[in-house]
Amino acid sequence: MKKSHRNIERMSKFQLGALDNNMLDYDFNKLKEFLNIKGRVIFDKNFRLHKEDNALLFVLCCYFIQDQNSSAIIGLDINKGLLISGPVGCGKTSLMKLMPYLASHKIKYETIPTRNIVNNFNAAGFEVLKKYKDTKDYCFDDLGLEPTGCHNTRDCNVMGEILLSRYDLFKAKKVKTHITTNLNTEELEARYGSQFISRLGEMFNLVSFKDDSVDKRK
Ligand SMILES: Nc1ncnc2c1ncn2[C@@H]1O[C@H](COP(=O)(O)OP(=O)(O)OP(=O)(O)O)[C@@H](O)[C@H]1O
Ligand SMILES: [Mg+2]
Repeated sequence: MKKSHRNIERMSKFQLGALDNNMLDYDFNKLKEFLNIKGRVIFDKNFRLHKEDNALLFVLCCYFIQDQNSSAIIGLDINKGLLISGPVGCGKTSLMKLMPYLASHKIKYETIPTRNIVNNFNAAGFEVLKKYKDTKDYCFDDLGLEPTGCHNTRDCNVMGEILLSRYDLFKAKKVKTHITTNLNTEELEARYGSQFISRLGEMFNLVSFKDDSVDKRK
């Protein structure tokens, strides 16, 4: 059965129609042109932004160039992180690698697959969690795909723990966390707990690809 991300889509409140009267002082088409060129350089020659993703790309462009005015109008908070959800292969990870080129001096984060974090934990133990308590911004990539955390027979919900400490850092020091995931809110709750879900809206702009987005691996 095809999985639905609609619940995250419903929770996001971006109002793109509010920007109809050309209030942007930059050109969305020019940004896309730049991203297409950069995408071909860093990925491969077949990279091209898809028209169907335009609404999502618009939101991301406002965020990454940190356009306070347009962001405020569409309901995006540039002080929060991004949680990008969507079906397998729609391009979440690629966009989180590409978008920072729009304003690399403003937005910097380290992208780490959650699989690597949990594999490191399983090998080295609780020391690994310390790294994510620093004030650096991170993008936890493919949240939900990681294995179960277990070091020396001791189980740990590694990403659940890390996400709660990232929330504390966000509240205390405005440290940002970004996420890409295939999971919808029910699945996120089942895996990382209701405490995480209750912090979701506070900590992240929820940005969702459409349910029927194509798998760009095909
Ligand atoms: N706009 C695009 N044009 C062409 N190819 C793309 C585009 N976006 C992504 N791809 C390619 O499609 C594949 C899937 O992209 P990506 O890994 O970013 O998707 P994802 O949503 O993160 O997938 P998953 O849900 O499996 O984590 C990659 O090989 C990537 O290079
Ligand atoms: Mg991915």
